Amino acid sequence: MMIRPPDDDAIADAVRRLRAGELVGIPTETVYGLGADAENVHAVAKIFALKGRPATHPVIVHLFSPDEIDQWARDVSADAQRLLRAFAPGPLTLIVKRSARVPDVVTGGQDTVGLRFPSHPVARALLRDFGGGVAAPSANRFGRISATTAQHVADEFAGGSVDGLRLILDGGPCAVGIESTIVDVSRSRAAVLRPGGIAATDLAAVLGYMPEARSHASPRVSGDLASHYAPQTPTRLVAPDVLADEALALGPTKAKRAVLARSATPPAGFQGLWRFAPAAAADYARALYAELRVLDASAADLILIEAPPSTSEWQAINDRLRRATHKAEVTTGDRR
Ligand code: TXA
Ligand code: MG
Repeated sequence: MMIRPPDDDAIADAVRRLRAGELVGIPTETVYGLGADAENVHAVAKIFALKGRPATHPVIVHLFSPDEIDQWARDVSADAQRLLRAFAPGPLTLIVKRSARVPDVVTGGQDTVGLRFPSHPVARALLRDFGGGVAAPSANRFGRISATTAQHVADEFAGGSVDGLRLILDGGPCAVGIESTIVDVSRSRAAVLRPGGIAATDLAAVLGYMPEARSHASPRVSGDLASHYAPQTPTRLVAPDVLADEALALGPTKAKRAVLARSATPPAGFQGLWRFAPAAAADYARALYAELRVLDASAADLILIEAPPSTSEWQAINDRLRRATHKAEVTTGDRR
């Protein structure tokens, strides 16, 4: 597996590999993607094999320009057009009715397709030169932490089969850091299937109404599974006022704790790993997945995350934290 700086040669190499049915690791402004030619069913099948992702979980198609939307979608609504004008290119995925150009393997056989127009200059250069659609899920193994650097992508797939993934374009650390906002505009009213890089209030300002949040969507969104974006180490969300106590209380194995704090400082005697996440939501989002990887790589038996505020700017982050902490719930002061 090769990580290359994204010069003209590397982009041309990536285009050749996509045309040959290989996978390419692609930087986007949200997270890295595992890209394949969306119209090559064998190439798309490699994505599912490499990720270990069930075939029923559709992948989204990345395009260079909203001008191409009618080639990939039909019945594109006025709401969809408004969102595209406001947010494309950018961290938005639209669920629209698919055209005949979209293969079944991309959509899991559904009548809709997810389309996204990334703003990252490397993704855009690649899409422009490739000229078609690039199917790409996040470049992580199924259910695991998404990748926000080229090295994360290499780490994710280092142990397993690298069949089809020989090139990762290094576009630097992702500026947004969490996945795109998924908005279903295939029905009469827009609905948010996954909160993300664009806040619901910003969508509402463009739509003229607050889109409904549809968390248990049918069709299925794989980010919708309760356990997702998850470290291998058990992980819990903890209220700020009890973080210090929880960090000192050792479990049966006496292994150390790993902590992701925002405001709380380590208590006297704490011997585990104490990391600080940024205080502002946008910076926190940018750092989150890299921090989860650092915490997960420590020898801790438990990761404790200081619960951020529950205000709207933290919505997408709190969504990811809830899924990362799957089997446990928030520990609050009054429950102890
Ligand atoms: O920011 C992002 O969206 C990143 C970058 C690489 O573009 N991609 C990404 O892809 O997060 P993925 O596959 O990890 O998440 C896309 C989600 C999946 O949960 C998938 O099930 C859902 O979108 N999805 C795809 N097509 C859909 C459809 N037709 N209807 C409903 N959900 C769909
Ligand atoms: Mg994903």
